[in-house]
Amino acid sequence: MSSLKGLILSGGKGTRLRPITHTSAKQLVPVANRPVLFYGIDAMARAGIEEIGIIIAPETGDEIRDAAGDGSRFGVKITYIVQDEPAGLAHAVLTAEPFLGEDSFVMYLGDNLLQGGISDLVRAFETSRPDALILLTPVADPENYGVAELDGDRVVMLQEKPPEPKTDLALVGVYMFTGAIHDAARAITPSARGELEITDAIQHLVNTDRRVEPHIVRGWWKDTGRLDDMLEANRLILETIETRLEGTLVDAQIDGRVVVEEGARIENCTVRGPAVIGAGARLVDCYIGPYTAIGEDCVIERAEVEHSILLAGSSVRGLDGRMESSLLGRNVAIGRSDKQPRAYRFMVGDNSEIGIL
Ligand code: G1P
Repeated sequence: MSSLKGLILSGGKGTRLRPITHTSAKQLVPVANRPVLFYGIDAMARAGIEEIGIIIAPETGDEIRDAAGDGSRFGVKITYIVQDEPAGLAHAVLTAEPFLGEDSFVMYLGDNLLQGGISDLVRAFETSRPDALILLTPVADPENYGVAELDGDRVVMLQEKPPEPKTDLALVGVYMFTGAIHDAARAITPSARGELEITDAIQHLVNTDRRVEPHIVRGWWKDTGRLDDMLEANRLILETIETRLEGTLVDAQIDGRVVVEEGARIENCTVRGPAVIGAGARLVDCYIGPYTAIGEDCVIERAEVEHSILLAGSSVRGLDGRMESSLLGRNVAIGRSDKQPRAYRFMVGDNSEIGIL
């Protein structure tokens, strides 16, 4: 068993996923019907990490506690640590110092998904014992991430969201640290966005001749901060599912890999996978296309839905055109109204987006 601890950062506000994140933590937005946070906890459990601290914000903390519990379901022990203000990732590390002590730890941003987990990385860290191990991957928009400049295997420079990035190597939101990171986090000052950046703390390790080992990520990596990223993460995870049909199927045609959870009912529909249909969902006279995740207790009637994520309790009824590439929050109702005058009728939250035919 590993003696490493885990630290998952789940305090971020998720401004780019509004309005969903007005009422719900971004780390709980589901990918293939599981909160994105759970994939990080799983990855740590699989790497042999037994003690995990989860950083939460005062506003969304209870919801995260309720969802992940004491960790026993994942085979780990979870300690919740409240970060009073969103003052940056390095500030989160300092907030967790009483939990971490001098132990080495894996830090995982709660909205990140990493194919293949972290077991190999943990092994590499334990073998070569650097002061920090960072993960990098080439991206098309490095200006939106921490960016690394390397000289062979050596990290030369790390910059947080530089307007003119020198390379396309983005810092992935999974890091491994020794206790040396605490002093580094104390040594830096807030960035232009007013945060203590973990990127700057790691740069401080580099500047003070500590060993920072870069690893290039080979599989896919997703930061699920935006709608397109959520849909892509959903596609990538759905690609890995196996068929499991536990609900009730009546005149249902199931093509490809589909999960139908217990208590779901599908009647006179075609479901073309990969797709997941949550427990208690009711689908009647509809078509569900590839890369769709229908949450618990959703209702779809006389409609076509494809490449979309529907959170629990939502309904879609009587649409003429196919709905696609959409994200519906909890208990959203889309349907026809026969009231006069015949008109579009909306009641939507702040920052919502609607596209009509
Ligand atoms: C954070 C880090 C950034 C890193 C990114 C990965 O950015 O500051 O260096 O590349 O996570 O997801 P943020 O999500 O705070 O914009």
